[in-house]
Amino acid sequence: MAFIIANWKMNPQKASEAKALFEAVSSAAKRLNNIEVAVCPPFCFLPFLKPKKNILTGGQDLFWELQGAYTGEISGKMLKDLECDYVIIGHSERRLNAGETNEIINAKLQAALKSDLKPILCVGEKQGEELGPVIAGQLEAGLKNISKNQLRDIAIAYEPIWAISSGLGTGNPCKPDEALSAALFIRKILTNLYGRYLAEKIKIAYGGSVDASNVGSYLQNNQIGGLLVGGASLDADEFRKLLEKVNDLQI
Ligand code: 13P
Repeated sequence: MAFIIANWKMNPQKASEAKALFEAVSSAAKRLNNIEVAVCPPFCFLPFLKPKKNILTGGQDLFWELQGAYTGEISGKMLKDLECDYVIIGHSERRLNAGETNEIINAKLQAALKSDLKPILCVGEKQGEELGPVIAGQLEAGLKNISKNQLRDIAIAYEPIWAISSGLGTGNPCKPDEALSAALFIRKILTNLYGRYLAEKIKIAYGGSVDASNVGSYLQNNQIGGLLVGGASLDADEFRKLLEKVNDLQI
């Protein structure tokens, strides 16, 4: 079953728009049996978006402490209480805009797991950076002290920063064979850290300028089983087409 994470980032601007978009996504997804969708809206919309069947919700971030005097932060338990199943951790926009280091990301992973959330750990290189050392460093430091048992609940999202459609990216999509070799590299590092048996079971998603027209090319192998979608998830019609295409692939 393919999994698709919709990262709405800081969109839309009104609760009414968020509700309408979620409704449209839900009515498209409920007719499809081969996909699981997790919508990750801004925190303030979560109380209005109730997960059902194969359409779940997640946070775009959380804080590394479980509770206390941390102005402006959101805890894992709060997300869980709002019925979230997932949380995105270490997105490049947080690494670069909010100064999140691999150590912070590791602490957030621990907090998410303690809160019974499934983390989606984002890794990816900037334009001009060599993929290998960057991804290896992000995985090794990000997963420090994460046990084999905990790893089972974590998905890894490969998002090359340069391939993101807006903001920090160039909008140049990553070629499918580049995404595939990044996924194989991620599995190699996971094998070094956790052994081959577990490394092969971990879900890997690709993100960066994914839309209805190119979605099939990223999922044409058994290495990449999911997608992390930004811009295209804000357009109800585009996202419905994307979900239908993924569903038809019968992964
Ligand atoms: P786009 O799909 O807009 O390129 O965004 C990718 C992303 O950052 C999702 O987390």
